[in-house]
Amino acid sequence: MRREYSKVMHNVFDEFTNRAIFKLISQGHFDGLQSPISIGKEANIFSAKKGQETVVVKIYRLESCDFNRMYDYIKLDPRYSTVHPSKRKIVFAWAQREYRNLLKAREAGVRVPKPITFLHHVLVMEHIGKRQPAPKLKDAWPRHTKEFFQEVVEQMRKLHQAELVHADLSAFNILNDQERPVIIDMSQCTTLEDSRAAEYLQRDIKNVAVFFRKIGLDAREDGIRQRIIT
Ligand SMILES: Nc1ncnc2c1ncn2[C@@H]1O[C@H](COP(=O)(O)OP(=O)(O)O)[C@@H](O)[C@H]1O
Ligand SMILES: [Mg+2]
Repeated sequence: MRREYSKVMHNVFDEFTNRAIFKLISQGHFDGLQSPISIGKEANIFSAKKGQETVVVKIYRLESCDFNRMYDYIKLDPRYSTVHPSKRKIVFAWAQREYRNLLKAREAGVRVPKPITFLHHVLVMEHIGKRQPAPKLKDAWPRHTKEFFQEVVEQMRKLHQAELVHADLSAFNILNDQERPVIIDMSQCTTLEDSRAAEYLQRDIKNVAVFFRKIGLDAREDGIRQRIIT
């Protein structure tokens, strides 16, 4: 397995990342990376095989991501207020924070991918979608707009009950998994004690309202807020 992986991926990642991936493979979390799903500014996402199953491996970039922006965000999260402002430490904390947020959200019954494990800057989680990854809401408008909208708001309510705010919620970070929403990309997600939590919540609400209005629903920010905070 290792040799096979090396042939394909040898030059793709730096040595540190290769070692982290090998370790996760040797721990049995997956057999090897399969194909890229998304190449992003902060992270690259791959599908990976685990026997017959597929999992998702999110590899945060150690280079060329915006550490200052990440630090500005994470230092206000009381869980990470003492994080060392070195590049690596911030990226590791970012990956760990996504894992913790996914776990907490899931425990609260929010529809998010099940987190499996993380090591340094590499996060392993459930693959959403049957064979292909489920499309983003922005690319796959729901057939039953109102029901879908209500379910999104319900997820936001549950997240809020768990004392979390997503902070980057939009139709980019909601997947349409067979006509049901799944919320992803939880690394920015912070606690309600974060001094900017109220601002993030308002922005999330606005993004959701704007998207659903665009696809024809009379979605009001006030109405959404009422449902979330009561
Ligand atoms: N668990 C998952 N299952 C299926 N697809 C996923 C999963 N996580 C991420 N993706 C895909 O990868 C894309 C990027 O992931 P995301 O976590 O939003 O990272 P970022 O936006 O920071 O690059 C998503 O828009 C989605 O298409
Ligand atoms: Mg995203």
